[in-house]
Amino acid sequence: MYVDNPNAPARKPVTVPGLHAMKAAGRKIVMLTAYDTSFAMQLEQAGVDVALVGDSLGMVVQGHRSTLPVTLEHMVYHTAAVARGLSTSLLIADMPFMADRDVPHALEAAARLVGEGGAAAVKLEGAAPHILDAIGALVARAIPVCAHLGLTPQSVHKFGGFKIQGREQDAADRVLAQAQAVQAAGADLLVLEGVPTALGERVTRAVTIPVIGIGAGPHCDGQVLVIHDVLGITPGKRPKFSKDFLAGRDSIAAAIAAYADDVRSGAFPAPEHCFN
Ligand code: KIV
Repeated sequence: MYVDNPNAPARKPVTVPGLHAMKAAGRKIVMLTAYDTSFAMQLEQAGVDVALVGDSLGMVVQGHRSTLPVTLEHMVYHTAAVARGLSTSLLIADMPFMADRDVPHALEAAARLVGEGGAAAVKLEGAAPHILDAIGALVARAIPVCAHLGLTPQSVHKFGGFKIQGREQDAADRVLAQAQAVQAAGADLLVLEGVPTALGERVTRAVTIPVIGIGAGPHCDGQVLVIHDVLGITPGKRPKFSKDFLAGRDSIAAAIAAYADDVRSGAFPAPEHCFN
């Protein structure tokens, strides 16, 4: 059941095949995080293509230092809240830490995020063998998967912090191979985070699925940011790859609309938001 949003623009629901068509047509995809009904309605009103219930909620909503404490219960709760504010934007929910540790757990978690939460797709981090197996099992059951590579926040301890990935040639080649592997496993979308612009471009050209960048340069098929960064209310330091779109504007609606416009026109990300 959805909350009626009287201000929602009349548009057709965004679908996974529709996102593929946008890549084919060279139209940029706008993705933004949301964690509750009110913000979901703001995204809907601004015509944001995809609302992502990210496990970043652990950091920006719950105040943790990483995404690792977020549970499946938290994700189902916030996904359902966002679903009630959407009518046409596509809803993707993150699989929280360890929810995808094997195929049975991944299926159980995805069933809850889609069934109870109302998500149209789920996002999984990495390309380890068990993740590729989980992607295959989910898509075999008609649950679309968004993969997530590069600076995957659930690997923060392995990376030794939130560090840009793929800077050396062999590391870049590994990210490219992972992108091809998640596509071969059946992923429908790919979020690519925290990699040099050249690698963002290489990956985007190498795969047929849409690549949504966050700190991956301007050549990706779309962009995603955390809503708190877009509104300049990040707890702590705002990441270099983000931009405060509320600065100089007088409403949240105007900030989200400016973000969407700048992604679609290619004005965001600018060189100062990118990495070499
Ligand atoms: O958790 C999240 O919000 C994310 C995006 C930053 C891509 O994964």
